[in-house]
Amino acid sequence: MINFINNLPKAELHLHIEGTFEPELMFNLATKNNIKLPYQSIEELKKAYNFDNLQHFLDIYYKGTSVLIEEQDFYDLTYNYLKKCASQQIRHVEIMFDPQSHTSRGVNFETIINGISKACLDAERSIGVTSLLIMSFLRHLSEEEAIKTLKQSLPFKKNIKAVGLDSSEKNNPPSKFQHVFLEATKQGYIPVAHAGEEGPSEYIWEAIELLKVKRIDHGNNALNDLDLIDTIKNRNIPLTICPLSNLALKVVDKLEEHPLKKLLDSGLEVTINSDDPAYFGGQLNKNYIEIQKALNLTKFDLYNLAKNSFQHSFLNDDKKEQYLTELEVYYNKNK
Ligand code: ADE
Ligand code: ZN
Repeated sequence: MINFINNLPKAELHLHIEGTFEPELMFNLATKNNIKLPYQSIEELKKAYNFDNLQHFLDIYYKGTSVLIEEQDFYDLTYNYLKKCASQQIRHVEIMFDPQSHTSRGVNFETIINGISKACLDAERSIGVTSLLIMSFLRHLSEEEAIKTLKQSLPFKKNIKAVGLDSSEKNNPPSKFQHVFLEATKQGYIPVAHAGEEGPSEYIWEAIELLKVKRIDHGNNALNDLDLIDTIKNRNIPLTICPLSNLALKVVDKLEEHPLKKLLDSGLEVTINSDDPAYFGGQLNKNYIEIQKALNLTKFDLYNLAKNSFQHSFLNDDKKEQYLTELEVYYNKNK
């Protein structure tokens, strides 16, 4: 089964590039950029990776981002992750980035987007991993700040496919960001949002009805509301589920209690993702492996999850078809 997963062609649709920051690179960049991290060593930093909840994690995650200064830093962060994709048979990835966690420290938008975009371009050429970018607004900040960020992004519109909404969910409902999402959609960005990770099912409703999202990131709490499940199904909106993240942030107590199987059984389109792999104890394949074990998923389930990942990507139809055909051939040979 592990072999089957490791070689399964797949896409990753929920991944924060700042969440791929490995401690070794973080300390190297801190030294290079002369920034003091509040940890004396890699070991001390890793000890802090024991989270009570989303906010506790975010406090540590934003400290990590503080050492990203130059275009090359964003390039290295992104390229390192894309190399990991190639080794896990991840054919395609949709990368979220949080411009506000950098522009708020004086880093130019251009520096961020150029570093990330160049790494994506180079990785596609040299290792064949395709990618696109999702610019995420930090929901603990105001909508005004998000509008400022949207404006900063417009000269680089061709590099960005979608907009997202992340950070502290509780008390920061999607309704707070209606105007900026409407404007972003008019500008051609595809809307997605984190909803129902720690927040209630009402936030998922708001993301669908008010932000008009095409994908829900997480969405675990949808299970509490049968009407919502029907609406998500009827509108063909996928959920990007992140098992090891949910475990690390205590959204679930045990993987055996993870709602993924119930969501699948209710007919929802679900994908498996790593969210912030450097912090949550595993890359994408480990997420597949652990959730397979915990929920006793079959090869057919895993094939369907990988199929969903391509089908619900924002790739053009030709490229989707190419990856889906490759997956089909793989499954027929290895089922
Ligand atoms: N930013 C990075 N990871 C996140 C998560 N799991 N939820 C909300 N915001 C995030
Ligand atoms: Zn996330």
